[in-house]
Amino acid sequence: MTATILITGASSGLGAEMARQFAGLGYDLALCARRTDRLDELKAEIVAAHPDRRIEVRALDVTDHDAVFSVFRDVAATFGRLDRVVVNAGMAKGAPLGTGRFDANRETAMTNFVAALAQTEAAMEVFRAQQGGHLVMVSSMSALRGLPKEITCYAATKAGVAHLVEGLRTEFYGKPGYDFTVLYPGYIRSEMNDGVAAAENKMMVSTEKGVTAMVAAIEKKRGSACVPPLPWAPLSVVMKHAPLPVFRRLI
Ligand SMILES: NC(=O)c1ccc[n+]([C@@H]2O[C@H](COP(=O)([O-])OP(=O)(O)OC[C@H]3O[C@@H](n4cnc5c(N)ncnc54)[C@H](OP(=O)(O)O)[C@@H]3O)[C@@H](O)[C@H]2O)c1
Repeated sequence: MTATILITGASSGLGAEMARQFAGLGYDLALCARRTDRLDELKAEIVAAHPDRRIEVRALDVTDHDAVFSVFRDVAATFGRLDRVVVNAGMAKGAPLGTGRFDANRETAMTNFVAALAQTEAAMEVFRAQQGGHLVMVSSMSALRGLPKEITCYAATKAGVAHLVEGLRTEFYGKPGYDFTVLYPGYIRSEMNDGVAAAENKMMVSTEKGVTAMVAAIEKKRGSACVPPLPWAPLSVVMKHAPLPVFRRLI
């Protein structure tokens, strides 16, 4: 039986490119997002390149928690099995805490953390029922250290979702069939950072290059991976351990 992957946030950026690359590797896919016109276009593109692939499209707002559970259950029933779930949907609105923009920080928290919790619960429900599966969480390099201003809440949500998976990893340690991957992407071109000019951020890589590193780490079932590995794996050590006065000057 062909292995199956459900990807949330598949309508643009990293999610759409993961779909292209996983289809190239022979997986059948369930693509979820709010913009179903984009998903339909992506499905047509993938099926034209890989006519044997089965691609299911589902409209999903991940902040509608009931919908998350029903879509995940429906996809698992449609395919007969869900081998991997990539919790990828996310956003990056934010403002310094205490400056009157609780609305923006709350929206980020609800999408990146609470909705990711719903997706993780829904995925684990399917995995427990079928006694196995691979959960992939798209966190961020920003998860590795508390960060200031506009990104404070975003970084906290990404630390939170990484911790959810670490808890599951501990719970399922030694149980065959269950795999857990946390990805910590650096700067990868997507709609989220469309406004950032290449000259402004020399560490930004193309969507294809960044996602190739993500897919390689997922396929190897790495427990966790900074992607792309360079410069982010060595930088992760600096981020975690640099004394605050040094760290403050770096960011
Ligand atoms: N690009 C980077 O440099 C970078 C670095 C670190 C981490 N990340 C993480 O990578 C993930 C993908 O982001 P991206 O960079 O590819 O940005 P993107 O191009 O803006 O894609 C975000 C995706 O999330 C979906 N999404 C947002 N809110 C949603 C909601 N309420 N319900 C359902 N889907 C929702 C969007 O789909 P719809 O709008 O169609 O629903 C879209 O497909 C995010 O979790 C992000 O935090 C990205």
